[in-house]
Amino acid sequence: MDFELPYPFFFLLLLLVLLPFSNTAQTYNNISLGSSLTALDDYSSSWPSPSGEFAFGFRQPGVDGFLLAIWFNKIQERTIVWSANAGSLVPQGSQVELTNDGQFMLKDKTGKQIYFAGSWGITGVAYAAMLDTGNFVLANKSSKYLWESFEEPTNTLLPTQTLKRNSKLYASYTASNYTPGRFRFALKSDGGLLLYTTNYPLDSANCEYWSTHTEGSGFQVIFSQSGSIYLTGTNGSILYMISDNTYSTQDFYHRAMLEYNGVFRHYVYPKKTGLGSVGTRRQGWSSSSFIPPNLCASIAETTGSGACGFNSLCREGTEGPVCECPDGYGFIDENDVLKGCKQKFVSQSCDEAFPETHLFDLQELENGDWPFSDYQHFQPVSEDWCKQSCLSDCSCAVVIFKNGDCWKKGIPLINGRIDPTVGNKALVKIRNNSTNSIPNLARLGLLGSSAFLNLLLLIITCLLFFHIIHHRKAKLSMLYLGGQGNNLKSFTYMEMKGATNGFKEELGRGAFATVFKGVLASEDGKPVAVKRLDTMVRENDLEFKAEVTAIGRTNHKNLVQLLGFCNEGQHRILVYEFMSNGSLASFLFGESRPSWYQRREIALGTARGILYLHEECSIQILHCDIKPQNILLDDSFNARIADFGVAKLLKIEQTRTTTRFRGTRGYVAPEWFKSLPVTVKADVYSFGILLLEIVCCRKNYIAKMEDEDQMILADWAYHCYEQNKLHQLFRNDDDEAKDDIEEMKAYLMIAFWCIQEDASPRPTMRNVTQMLEGTVELSNPPNPSSLYVQCKGL
Ligand SMILES: *[C@@H]1O[C@H](CO)[C@@H](O)[C@H](O)[C@H]1NC(C)=O
Ligand SMILES: *[C@@H]1O[C@H](CO)[C@@H](O)[C@H](O)[C@H]1NC(C)=O
Ligand SMILES: *[C@@H]1O[C@H](CO)[C@@H](O)[C@H](O)[C@H]1NC(C)=O
Ligand SMILES: *[C@@H]1O[C@H](CO)[C@@H](O)[C@H](O)[C@H]1NC(C)=O
Ligand SMILES: *[C@@H]1O[C@H](CO)[C@@H](O)[C@H](O)[C@H]1NC(C)=O
Repeated sequence: MDFELPYPFFFLLLLLVLLPFSNTAQTYNNISLGSSLTALDDYSSSWPSPSGEFAFGFRQPGVDGFLLAIWFNKIQERTIVWSANAGSLVPQGSQVELTNDGQFMLKDKTGKQIYFAGSWGITGVAYAAMLDTGNFVLANKSSKYLWESFEEPTNTLLPTQTLKRNSKLYASYTASNYTPGRFRFALKSDGGLLLYTTNYPLDSANCEYWSTHTEGSGFQVIFSQSGSIYLTGTNGSILYMISDNTYSTQDFYHRAMLEYNGVFRHYVYPKKTGLGSVGTRRQGWSSSSFIPPNLCASIAETTGSGACGFNSLCREGTEGPVCECPDGYGFIDENDVLKGCKQKFVSQSCDEAFPETHLFDLQELENGDWPFSDYQHFQPVSEDWCKQSCLSDCSCAVVIFKNGDCWKKGIPLINGRIDPTVGNKALVKIRNNSTNSIPNLARLGLLGSSAFLNLLLLIITCLLFFHIIHHRKAKLSMLYLGGQGNNLKSFTYMEMKGATNGFKEELGRGAFATVFKGVLASEDGKPVAVKRLDTMVRENDLEFKAEVTAIGRTNHKNLVQLLGFCNEGQHRILVYEFMSNGSLASFLFGESRPSWYQRREIALGTARGILYLHEECSIQILHCDIKPQNILLDDSFNARIADFGVAKLLKIEQTRTTTRFRGTRGYVAPEWFKSLPVTVKADVYSFGILLLEIVCCRKNYIAKMEDEDQMILADWAYHCYEQNKLHQLFRNDDDEAKDDIEEMKAYLMIAFWCIQEDASPRPTMRNVTQMLEGTVELSNPPNPSSLYVQCKGL
């Protein structure tokens, strides 16, 4: 202590009274050069603010080490509001020191410096100070702040603190682990304020779930002295009120925090029930307000773990989201519920010889939904058929039946929620306990050596064998597909196996199929692409037949031609022409940049191919998954559209019904997410994104981009177009292409028309083709993303 004690005994008494709450009752106004703190015990080492309301120092949140932090020092909870080092713990004996030569550093016991975000590399510090606002500052001789904790927030904002453009709050991983978790609250460099999920453990954005839509006008988030939180514009006007405070800052402590579960919440704590009056009833922190109002429903990500982790359910409670597991499932980690749930039972065997259909049951779950986990959709079918289809399919974890639609969902179940507005009834498949069903005995027979069981097994095997033979006969009669003028060849499975040399050379793999290279004797030794569908149920026959018939009837120079198929036993195989020049993705994003002429031809060919599918073939076909991986190039680099067979076949009169989600993120039209009718305009949207990529020779989304504004091609391209700075967009193009810049600009404008948020202003593929050919006039497109709310790779 560097002050004299006139009444040592009195002071000792005072110290004893204060001891349980604060070992260090000294008041430091200025922390001078040469001061240090050592991580020894919780609270033993800290620098409090003049009023004692906040303190800076070491805390021990668990047993694993110490956290350099700032906390509310006068309340029992000692709530942490800031932490150094991205929440990483440092070992006991570590020291934080303001050195005599004016540096602020964190060292471990041996004196080795530990990276300490913010203060790193700052010199010329004259003193440090823990202020009564909760801000910890490093100042130079002229009291100019060289660094302040308010400028580098972690998960919390305090009154008088502001959040500036291009900064964010990081949700902690869990309530007691302060390393960055899965959610962010960010004020982007363009002024948009939003909450989003990340692709944990990476920092990259996955799905936006709340936004003020203030791009271009937002300036800073202010937590005012009086305790309100709002976003202001550049001229100081309030653009958005986040929390309109009704609790005075005189009587209440305030903090706003992005919680580990993704909720941004404004908390208050009555001051007089804090340390000031020990013995009165403690109330603790209570919620003043929070956003978003319904987190479970707001997060709509098509990949990623959602609000509560894989296989979980998010239920909106009165105080925010509650994570739950469906029946038969349990948390992977009780202390980290956001990690999701796992099955508590042994999953269903996929061994065809011992189908475990009878060992599983479907448990009803009112209002449960995993809207983005579908892998198969049947329609129209009966509820019984739907249930049986799931029970007999080892990939099926959940099935949803509604008005003749049957959606099967697999593990991992993503983005689950209990949502009463949907009125769904999910059926969750769980293993039945009963042990006296026959297939289970058969298994026992395999393991044990009981003669009786082996006999039983023999009988079952015979029964199964006859069942299969019977089944196969039934199938043979279905092989003759009803299409007239349909030149498809039917192949046997052995032929397919021979052609592909036992399915050896894999060309590609999709969600439902694997493609192999093969050679068919009947095709003069020409190579073919053999697509083997990963079928899950035998009942799939009708659908397969319908698809093959529809694809077989198509014939256009910009489509990959179907040559034949194999439909034998559980095997479903499609045989296509082989495309020697690979996919547009590798052509466009590869080493060398293709010429504008080639790119232009590919854009036109693709548009014509889609137009054919939409308007010119006998049955309208929605592709639903237009992307550069699905555009192949033949010997002459003509664009050939692949994979349209798996598209949902739509008869014209059905186009207004809502279809369940399919497609690839980034290329997917907004209506897929919004329960709006999905029409041919969804393909137009995907084509628009593809066209942007073709014009700019760049992927629609690049996560690691120096300039954040350039991450999303659509936004960046529109920005350049609007600002008349197209040279920035095309700067990598060779000189030849510069001559074509007018045409490239026109193609960009067409792309912007195609990717309008709203489906109605998007042109039809016929219009698009005409515009690309230059036969109709082109008008200025509105900003495509003006109303953008949904998930995209931010
Ligand atoms: C802290 O130190 C600076 C510089 O020496 C001085 O200007 C300031 O008044 C001091 N503040 C207090 C509260 O002592
Ligand atoms: C303190 O920092 C400010 C801003 O960096 C600078 O202008 C000023 O000269 C510094 N004062 C001293 C005494 O170093
Ligand atoms: C500030 O700008 C907004 C639009 O960004 C405008 O509506 C408002 O009137 C302006 N306020 C003042 C005081 O200029
Ligand atoms: C599964 O168990 C339930 C309850 O024990 C029973 O009612 C049902 O019949 C069983 N299902 C099968 C297929 O054995
Ligand atoms: C299975 O049986 C055990 C013990 O009888 C019981 O505790 C458990 O709830 C049952 N599980 C299911 C899914 O029926």
